Amino acid sequence: METLIKAIAKFIEENPVLNVSGIEIQAGVPKGTLQKALGGFQKLSQHNAEKLMPVLTRYGFQFDSGAKIISIANNKGGVAKTASTVNIAAAIAKQGLKTLIIDMDPQGSASRHFGQYELEVQLSDSLRENAPLPIEQIMVEVKENLWICPSNLNLEGLLSEMQSDEVEGNMRLKKALMPIAGKFDYIFIDCPPSLNLFTINSLIASNGVLVPVQPEPHSIDGIANIMKMINKVAMVNPILKVDGFFFTLVKTNTKLHEGMMDSLQDIYPNIKVYQTRIRHNISISEASYEEKDVLAYDSSSAGAKDYTNLSKELING
Ligand SMILES: Nc1ncnc2c1ncn2[C@@H]1O[C@H](COP(=O)(O)OP(=O)(O)OP(=O)(O)O)[C@@H](O)[C@H]1O
Ligand SMILES: [Mg+2]
Repeated sequence: METLIKAIAKFIEENPVLNVSGIEIQAGVPKGTLQKALGGFQKLSQHNAEKLMPVLTRYGFQFDSGAKIISIANNKGGVAKTASTVNIAAAIAKQGLKTLIIDMDPQGSASRHFGQYELEVQLSDSLRENAPLPIEQIMVEVKENLWICPSNLNLEGLLSEMQSDEVEGNMRLKKALMPIAGKFDYIFIDCPPSLNLFTINSLIASNGVLVPVQPEPHSIDGIANIMKMINKVAMVNPILKVDGFFFTLVKTNTKLHEGMMDSLQDIYPNIKVYQTRIRHNISISEASYEEKDVLAYDSSSAGAKDYTNLSKELING
């Protein structure tokens, strides 16, 4: 919290035109809250900091919590977003890093992966407008160093409420993650196959985005859509960077896939394409059926090896 106050103080110092009392009014915090915190007279409570964050964010404030927060996004369905979220997160957790998965898809596939479906409390309870639950109350530890914020169709029910909230509807996830982000090394967000407000919320809450790409003609053409959305969100969230593309469901030794993989870097010369390719491997589907990540299901499988290598490439930048 101390570092948040310092970041807020620095932001206000660098932007002298900001009206501190106006910000307090917009955030709905008691008069003088921010002023006293900045002067060192009174500590800013977590509750008030959470109220102030979205307002300050609208004025361009960015707070780097220290955690790497990565959306795994592609509006094309079935390109292994969920398989990659779950297995990259499991591979990183296995290396001793504290990792959290956010299931931002009402299909709840990532949650099912760990048998965490139909829970009484879930992510939608932390994203609702009325008395949202702190993330700590809805996240579930699924194995050593790995937690998930589960979802199911209840999340779908929240979409219209979020859409009608013109001021903060796109910032609900960012607001919910802010108090806990610093407690994790990595947070991965499994996005739905759509360019809707759930994907926008994910990108606004993130500082990175990974795009899984299936090396098929229509998949590669469709990347333009997600890239357009990322670029738009980056205008309001300038810390958002494309970490890169990685290939999934790769059939090795097929001319089509080899050609497609070669062409992606030509189309996007400035974006990293990860060297590790995730091969088509039945263990990945079997693991999901058994409600396990592929490393736990069969550590010697091609899927476990590929996701371990990809996670190492990601960690090493
Ligand atoms: N490398 C792989 N080898 C074999 N099967 C895979 C692989 N990766 C994913 N799958 C399987 O492909 C299907 C689609 O994968 P997944 O659900 O991860 O895609 P998705 O992009 O999340 O889909 P959606 O757009 O519906 O959210 C699943 O049945 C999954 O088990
Ligand atoms: Mg999915």
